[in-house]
Amino acid sequence: MYNEIDLDKINLDTEPPTEEPERQYYFMAKCRRYAACLARELGQRPTFFVQTFGCQMNARDSEKLTGILEEIGYEQAQSEEADFVIYNTCTVRENANNKVWGRLGYLNAYKKEHPHMKIALCGCMMQEPEVIEKLRKSYRFVDLVFGTHNIYKFAELLTGTFEQQGMLIDIWKGTDQIVENLPIERKYNFKSGVNIMFGCNNFCSYCIVPYVRGRERSRKPEDILKEIENLAKDGVVEIMLLGQNVNSYGKNLQEPVSFAELLRQIEKIEGIERIRFMTSHPKDLSDELIEVMASSGKICNHLHLPLQSGSSRILKEMNRRYDKEQYLTLVEKIRKAVPDIALTTDIIVGFPGETEEDFEETMDVVQQVGYDSAFTFIYSKRTGTPAAAMEEQVPEDIVKVRFERLLKEVQRSAEERAKALTGRVEKVLVEEVNEQDEALVTGRMGNNFIVHFPGTEELIGRIVDVKLKECKGFYFYGEMAD
Ligand code: SAH
Ligand code: SF4
Ligand code: F3S
Repeated sequence: MYNEIDLDKINLDTEPPTEEPERQYYFMAKCRRYAACLARELGQRPTFFVQTFGCQMNARDSEKLTGILEEIGYEQAQSEEADFVIYNTCTVRENANNKVWGRLGYLNAYKKEHPHMKIALCGCMMQEPEVIEKLRKSYRFVDLVFGTHNIYKFAELLTGTFEQQGMLIDIWKGTDQIVENLPIERKYNFKSGVNIMFGCNNFCSYCIVPYVRGRERSRKPEDILKEIENLAKDGVVEIMLLGQNVNSYGKNLQEPVSFAELLRQIEKIEGIERIRFMTSHPKDLSDELIEVMASSGKICNHLHLPLQSGSSRILKEMNRRYDKEQYLTLVEKIRKAVPDIALTTDIIVGFPGETEEDFEETMDVVQQVGYDSAFTFIYSKRTGTPAAAMEEQVPEDIVKVRFERLLKEVQRSAEERAKALTGRVEKVLVEEVNEQDEALVTGRMGNNFIVHFPGTEELIGRIVDVKLKECKGFYFYGEMAD
């Protein structure tokens, strides 16, 4: 266990160990010395700021970076005006990249006035060779660049930035290594993400994730269970199991374990009251999983089931490996087994070659399913993916019109679903004091809907019964039920 390690007892006069994670403990101890020196120079503890772009995986990775920085003596700042700034990047759509380039310009200006400051970039965008080339050419003020496969080496790389001048770049093409037992600093103390697998093998034709996150690798069930047991001991009541396709969890382990079986094991852990997971690929969603969801007292009544398109022809072009009918049949099966379940989804508009008829198929599925919420995206061309080479990219103005139509329908259906819950009493995990009104707290129901109700800070992290009094479209006002 990491918290049994005393960094100050590590002998730094020897060569670093070759085994992981011991090697990283050695470099953390080394960084701690450098950070102490820096603190003396600055007259205070150096500060850091991690900005996360992208999905829950990146959010969890940022907690790992934060864990190491706090362990070596840095203090978290609330803005980029810090001694060490990291951008943990995303590249799933072009606008994710644009945000990073824009903010780097601002950071450069800040660094000119604060030359001792260090800037690091990591995450999915760094796995793209063109990005690295651009950084090398025009962004020399960046101190450290690393990717998704070697994030566990952060302490070692950080040591490098203390010991050498100039830009340090370390990008790996892939890895089959999973390093356990490194420090993590959680953003919330009552809920936590838990990686169960890394990478993706699906190669949906529009998607860059398999190229930047590498091949699918599952963590061993015993490592996952141990982590969750420790989280529970630490007061965590809700966990979110993370993977690009959780339904294929465990298939490539030496001793294969199904995702449903993993859930059964997790269910037994005392103290954990809510289990969520993300993302479920429809092609791999098993009957066994549906059974486990139906019989579980802890798995939340929510399933995120990305549709991407309702047109069987487009789904084939997307390499999704299910068609419209199969998706609808699956939804029917799930609703039958878990009648109350909230269904949410991801949809892409404007995939190459999408016709009006194809789009109508998507609208049809949206109407038939009646999602509780949906993330809608305009197709973004990602260099290197098969879809980028497809002719017939759909004109922007047509995509915009379709996108607006879809958004309206999705909002209508979400409102309708939410309204139907009004008057019910639901279990709510209180997450924070309301930002706009301090007399209220904000919490989340099992089905992922949000409710604001009168309460105080002491309720944070507790699961309470709340009566849903008024529906505001996507959220509710309520009051605690006695
Ligand atoms: N593994 C998850 C999704 C990860 S990416 C899954 O298979 O569902 C999150 C979402 O981003 C995807 O579901 C998809 O809707 C969207 N997305 C991915 N690539 C995209 C692209 N090139 N353009 C627009 N949206 C994209
Ligand atoms: Fe991308 Fe498809 Fe993998 Fe999801 S399953 S990460 S959409 S390739
Ligand atoms: Fe983005 Fe990487 Fe997640 S590309 S969506 S941060 S896996």
